Amino acid sequence: MYYNLARSLIFTQDAERAHDLTIGMLKRVGKTPLRKLLSTSAAGYPKSVMGLNFPNPVGLAAGLDKNGECLDAWFAMGFGFVEVGTVTPRPQDGNPQPRLFRILEAEGIINRMGFNNKGVDYLVEQVKQVKNRTGLVGINIGKNKDTPVENGKDDYVICLDKVYAHADYVAVNISSPNTPGLRSLQYGEALDDLLASLKSRQAELAEQHGKQVPLAVKIAPDMSDDEIAQTADAFVRHGIDGVIATNTTLERDMIKGLPHCDETGGLSGKPLQTQSTAFIAKLAKELNGQLPIIGVGGIDSLQAAQDKRQAGADLVQIYSGFIYKGPPLVHELVQNLQ
Ligand SMILES: Cc1cc2nc3c(=O)[nH]c(=O)nc-3n(C[C@H](O)[C@H](O)[C@H](O)COP(=O)(O)O)c2cc1C
Repeated sequence: MYYNLARSLIFTQDAERAHDLTIGMLKRVGKTPLRKLLSTSAAGYPKSVMGLNFPNPVGLAAGLDKNGECLDAWFAMGFGFVEVGTVTPRPQDGNPQPRLFRILEAEGIINRMGFNNKGVDYLVEQVKQVKNRTGLVGINIGKNKDTPVENGKDDYVICLDKVYAHADYVAVNISSPNTPGLRSLQYGEALDDLLASLKSRQAELAEQHGKQVPLAVKIAPDMSDDEIAQTADAFVRHGIDGVIATNTTLERDMIKGLPHCDETGGLSGKPLQTQSTAFIAKLAKELNGQLPIIGVGGIDSLQAAQDKRQAGADLVQIYSGFIYKGPPLVHELVQNLQ
């Protein structure tokens, strides 16, 4: 009830302004004892995935806290893990505004943010300052817009080097639709080349830091069955530690005729739910248990989270569901998702 009231107020603001105000508030509250106001009594079911012990299987998806500024607040809410980023080597502004749209009638969101972030050094400083690291921290890395896609792997390696000591896992984002050419890294030689570079750097860093930090790759739902099979095969061949499925979609059929439906960008939230669950089921079949899946896309209820688990996801993440349902959704999932 309280969140419904808060939401009515927040939704009077333009979507990006509402986002910035909320992040600013959570950043401040998270660093004071007031964060107890956000806290949940849900205990959660621990789960071991990628060699890591997750206190519960419910995570915050990348992109909501791009600079890692609110980790204390997210952990107070009960998240078992939080993926911060996407972060790039150098700070960048992202695309011109407006670039974030609520599809209210469908509980969806279209965004074309374009990796607006304060750069990897700033994010690392934020992660170092977390007071109560009660869950795991994933750091999601990407490439700067002005780095040609042929040299994209250099940006991923720069970020991997800088975040390695501070991350519980690193997420490699090659599936944002809002950085030109990025999704081409999901296929063929470009994918092989990127994965080989990251795996070899991961081995060197593991030696250097005396700890193995898993690499999970985040992919888009807009793939044919053949492409899913080939991508899964590449992940297994290269010994990738996990897959995050899925990012936003370019599909629009589910929101035809609704306000903002033709905006450029990636669609998330409830309209993505069925597509991403079906994608996870196909991916799980191809992977055949050889690597774990973090399932994300349109989770807005316990049932939707259970559907993702049923399809083959070991862990789940939420973004848009959190915007529409708020902390009570986190509580419900943490309390009940086994
Ligand atoms: C405004 C917005 C920004 C996002 N930014 C990122 C990002 O920077 N990196 C990333 O990997 N995913 C990003 N995502 C995708 C989400 O992490 C998630 O994969 C997608 O929204 C599907 O989940 P959902 O339906 O629960 O929102 C973003 C999503 C939204 C709505």
